[in-house]
Parts: sequence; C-alpha cells; structure tokens
Amino acid sequence: MSGDVWEVGDAYEAYVGRWSRKIAVEFVRWLGLPSGLRWLDAGCGTGALTSAVLASESAAPTSPTDSAHVVGVDPSLGFLRSVPAPAGRVAGDAAALPLRDESFDVVVSGLALNFVPRPEAAVAEFARVAAPGAVVASYVWDYAEGMRMMRHFWDVAAEVVPAAAEHDEGPRFPICHEPALRAAWAAAGLAEVSTRAIEVPTVFRGFDDFWLPFLGGQGAAPAYLATLGEDERAAIRERLHARLGDGEIALTASAWAVRGRRPTADEAGLTLSDVRPADDDPATLVRRRRPTMSEAITDPGADDEDSAEAARTRRPAVGAA
Ligand SMILES: C[S@@+](CC[C@H](N)C(=O)[O-])C[C@H]1O[C@@H](n2cnc3c(N)ncnc32)[C@H](O)[C@@H]1O
Repeated sequence: MSGDVWEVGDAYEAYVGRWSRKIAVEFVRWLGLPSGLRWLDAGCGTGALTSAVLASESAAPTSPTDSAHVVGVDPSLGFLRSVPAPAGRVAGDAAALPLRDESFDVVVSGLALNFVPRPEAAVAEFARVAAPGAVVASYVWDYAEGMRMMRHFWDVAAEVVPAAAEHDEGPRFPICHEPALRAAWAAAGLAEVSTRAIEVPTVFRGFDDFWLPFLGGQGAAPAYLATLGEDERAAIRERLHARLGDGEIALTASAWAVRGRRPTADEAGLTLSDVRPADDDPATLVRRRRPTMSEAITDPGADDEDSAEAARTRRPAVGAA
C-alpha cells in the first residue's frame, strides 16, 4: 500500500528537504567525529545528510586520490541527481547494499529507514559494510508526535477521509520510536547504543508556504493527497487553513536519532589469530588492506560522476521508473 513517491528532487526540497537539511546538520554535530573518515549515507535522497557531512570538518578528503569520501545510496535516480559532488552516487537498496563488507568508517541514514520494507534488514546491511569499530547511526521523523507539520496533515486528512488513517505515517512506521530503534541496533550486534531526540524549528511564512508543497506529489503525504479527488483535497486544505490560520506558522519537527558502534574483532570475542589469513598469500593480504572509497563500491564505475546513470544500465534501480 506504500505508494510513496521519490522522483522530483525540487518538489521534495520544497516539501520537507528544507527541514531535513536542518536536522542533518544537528545530527552530524551530535556524532562529533574526526576528519578523514569514509562515510556511507544510505537512503541519501537529494543529499541533505551528505551535504551536511561534506560541509562538516569531519569530511576532509581521505587522500588526494580518493575524491569520493562520502558515498550516497538511494533507489531514486531522480533524487540522486541532486546529490552534490564530490560525493559518490550509487543506485541501490539499503536492504541489499551494493557495497563491500567493512568498507566504511561511518554508516549513516537520514529519514529513510522507515521506507525500507524490512528496516531490520537494512540495519544488518549497515553493520555489514561498517568496518570494525565504525559508527552506525540514523534518525527518523517522530511521525507519531513531534513532526508537527505532518501530524497536522494526517490528523486533518483522517477527519475528512477516514481511510486516510491507514496511510498515516505515525502508526504506519513502528520503527520510528526510540525503543524500536534501540532494539534494531542491538539486534544487528551494534555496541554502545544511544539515542536522542533532535528538534528543529519549522517556520512557514504563511499558509501557502505550508500548503503548496503538499501539492508537489513527493513523499508519503503529498503522494497520498494526489490520489484524492478535488473536493477532498479542498476540504483538507480548508480545515488545515482554519487550524493554522494566516500569517507566520511556527511549528517544530523532531526526529529520533540512534547511534552505535560495530564491535572490533577483539570486542566480539575473537583473537587476532582467528581473523588473520591462514597463509601469506599476497592476494589475501591485498584483500585485507583498508579499501579505498572506490573499491568499496562493488559495481565497478558506479562511483563516477554519472554513477546513477551507469548503475541504471547495469542493474535495475529499486522503485525507480
Ligand atoms: C524522506 S526521504 C529522505 C532523504 C534524505 N536522506 C533526507 O534526509 O532528506 C526518504 C528516502 O528513502 C529512499 N528510499 C526508499 N526506499 C529505500 C530503500 N529500500 N533503500 C534505500 N533508500 C530508500 C527514498 O528514495 C528517499 O530518497
């Protein structure tokens, strides 16, 4: 029943990308990681979190030959086009990442986990591609309470069209609660799990600034709105207008964030002799070398400028037209 639409980057930005960019900055600040790390942004969309990583000091290039120190993965080719260089762009599914084991120092995912049909499979993938000791962290909107803009929409939509309740992102996404995130991180074998709420102001210039982006068709609520008849849309608009009034609309949006760390071999109870190659075969030793960002991507060439296009010709993008 999903029907969520992720195709047109500009319409997504006007709807919620402008707010997800604010959350992303706070999230990267919370991680507080040093520079020179290899980052993966799973479900990167138009690049809100990737941009925050690139803008932070923590994203200094790993080496002069390793230009793409952040890689964004998303099934939407339309959204991937907006991901800024020098990030690598890869078309793919978070639950089946086309990336090598243990190839990132930081695996992050912003506002995307709940859209993966089996979020726990995605978290297992995050842990798989994370190097021993790497940070694995994510955040999702608090649809049930704190994401006020969407809460207003779904509450009013259900008053006008009772069946809208089935599409309400609050009950629809059980992973978007603090205990569920904590449990998913623990189930993936991640250590030192901690969570927090991140809240940002979402101030709309007036009712049109609030409402018109809902007509852009991108994301869950706008995609649902597009399926309704003209009369139902008008009734939802009128009720929202009556609730929120004219003039500035000052709301807040909050997300639940979670972070953990992939245990090192020692912490996982292995000794060095368990993980050392059985022989001195140079090929084995080369494989054990810390992979560069381009080597991390299993699809050769998918990390270049046109990776999204290249990936489309080699592998059908999940959920892409
Ligand atoms: C709300 S957007 C978040 C985008 C971006 N991370 C941000 O913070 O603005 C949700 C994203 O999840 C992506 N998505 C949906 N299903 C996915 C999957 N199975 N694997 C990875 N990403 C997925 C969508 O294409 C979309 O870009």
